[in-house]
Amino acid sequence: MKKITIAIDGFSSTGKSTLAKQVAKELGYVYVDTGAMYRAVTYYAMLNNLVSEDFLDKESLVSQLSKIQLQFQFNPALGFAEMYLNGENVEQAIRTIEVSRNVSRIAEISQVRAKLVEQQQAMGKNKAIVMDGRDIGTVVFPDAELKLFMNASAETRAQRRFDELLEKGQSVTFDEVLQNVQQRDYIDTHREDSPLVKADDAIEIDNSAMSKKEQFELVMQLVAEKLSV
Ligand code: DC
Repeated sequence: MKKITIAIDGFSSTGKSTLAKQVAKELGYVYVDTGAMYRAVTYYAMLNNLVSEDFLDKESLVSQLSKIQLQFQFNPALGFAEMYLNGENVEQAIRTIEVSRNVSRIAEISQVRAKLVEQQQAMGKNKAIVMDGRDIGTVVFPDAELKLFMNASAETRAQRRFDELLEKGQSVTFDEVLQNVQQRDYIDTHREDSPLVKADDAIEIDNSAMSKKEQFELVMQLVAEKLSV
């Protein structure tokens, strides 16, 4: 059976990971959430007082990169892999609004990107992988057989993220979440190294008005086409 690489890029809170997980499960492929890796490095920097809202000690973080061990470990109960930072499960800790506020500035650092991109390429060397992020179709796997670029309005995305955070019991306002989404959009698309941009050969999916089922069916149809050639 032919195996392919599926790269899913797009703006934050466009439902990339939900879709990627479903597609990976259906195909029996590995799913990799690269945002979790940038979040885990950010969490490390926060734990070590290297970053806060108005401070970033880039030099110290870069000098400590070799001390940061990242690992995905599959949790059968959840049906997906959880993020481990230096042996500790940080899956919950990396999803807070505090990490979201700092992560774009960490993801701008070229040395951080180089380290994570190398690990991501190693994970995908045998194909049969669904990877989501911002630079997967452009930098990590420019030769991926199927590239998707997800988008939706900032308000739709903020509402989705807001509902998720409330469900997790975090106290945030909708305006805070919307502001965070807009700030991250700006930094993600304007950074010098690997800015978020649609690859020329990526298929754009605006899912503002699409159900999860519709998105899944569309992607599985695209996958079937790629597998048949
Ligand atoms: O997908 P996410 O929201 O969990 O990603 C968190 C941040 O990490 C996002 O603001 C941009 C950055 N990121 C990146 O620069 N490159 C990737 N491949 C994945 C995420």
